[in-house]
Amino acid sequence: MVDDSLLTRRRVMNLGFRTMLGVAGASIARRPGQFHSSASKPDRVASGQVSLKQRAASKGLIFGAASRYQDLRSNPNLAAALVKDCALLVPEWELKWSAGSALLRPSPDDFDFRKADWMANFAQTHQLLFQGHTLVWHLSLPHWFAKTVHAQNAEQILSQHIQRLVQHYRGRIHSWCVVNEAIAYDPRQGRSDGLQESPWLAFLGPEYLDLSFRMAAQADPRALLFYNDYGLDYDNPLDESKRRAVLKLLERLKAQGTPIHALGIQAHLRGEATDFNPRKLREFLREVAGLGLKIMITELDVNDLRLPANENTRDARVADVYEAYLTTVLDEPAVISVITWGLSDRYTYLAEDLSRIQGRDVRPLPLDRNLQAKPAWRAIAQALDQAPHR
Ligand code: G3I
Repeated sequence: MVDDSLLTRRRVMNLGFRTMLGVAGASIARRPGQFHSSASKPDRVASGQVSLKQRAASKGLIFGAASRYQDLRSNPNLAAALVKDCALLVPEWELKWSAGSALLRPSPDDFDFRKADWMANFAQTHQLLFQGHTLVWHLSLPHWFAKTVHAQNAEQILSQHIQRLVQHYRGRIHSWCVVNEAIAYDPRQGRSDGLQESPWLAFLGPEYLDLSFRMAAQADPRALLFYNDYGLDYDNPLDESKRRAVLKLLERLKAQGTPIHALGIQAHLRGEATDFNPRKLREFLREVAGLGLKIMITELDVNDLRLPANENTRDARVADVYEAYLTTVLDEPAVISVITWGLSDRYTYLAEDLSRIQGRDVRPLPLDRNLQAKPAWRAIAQALDQAPHR
């Protein structure tokens, strides 16, 4: 049984919102997991006049997006769209050890900051907050890592990486994803603490997490430091086991005085999902906030690969997912930011990671391939407009 109070409240707010806008027609409440096509719902908000960044800021929130050096540098229209709608930029590749065409760490002794510096300068030039992603992960490690790092030098290599990177951007970074995805895909298998097998765990033990946060805090005491993970969103046994394991990890870190300030919830959502339960997610957010942590939605997108082929139907379903999810999470005052994993459908890892079906492009993000606002943009705008002020 899903708690309808939240939906009822949104229905009242929607009505109020539409009355305010003079938009006829009542909103149509929906049971979580059941989404009406936009054909049965009046349009949400006029897009474009007031940017997502402005709508977020008016509620004390931050709206941002991930992007890549190669895309921002080659497409001035993308750059302009990002500056218009976003108050924060996170490099999708350039601050990882190695990803795509970005090789931050070409060798054990070298750092190549050129692409990440370009991104930091872009952010600074356009008054965008800058978020670092990610200092410690078991993926996107450079070619030399496996044959170089071992139990005797792992701490020194980790320390050198964190200190050099965090000090390099000290004073220019809003927040750091210190550790990414340290809990296994399925915490019910494997270790009792649910930790993901990784070189860091193998060489340094579970203490690598506390160590990483302490090194980052020492290198930049002013940066907001967060732990980031995925698979926390839906009402199913797998996601529930992940939420429990992440909560246990956060409780353990807090109990030992680790300098952690927030949880990053990636929020890679599924358009076809029928197990979204606002009450379940809201309960988890409340538990995280109860630890004294802030919450950041860090990689929001909606995978539409398994939705019907019709673009209007897909866009409507994707918009519904954005609105239902954001209405739920923004109800939690500890949530301080919403960051999408890309801004335009032209630049999304989902197009590269997953094969396209029947020649269709994926449509997971607020702007289409031509940087035009989609129903998803309007859904995000509406959720921001209706969010309680921080
Ligand atoms: O573009 C090249 C292509 O030319 C080449 O043939 C191919 C095979 O080498 O690689 C392609 O680049 C890949 C790129 O994705 C584009 O698909 C990179 O190797 C690959 O590293 C990169 O993957 C990134 C992934 O993180 C690993 O770093 C994705 O772009 C990025 O969106 C993804 O982001 C992650 C977050 O960091 C953590 N949370 C999950 C999220 C999605 O997986």
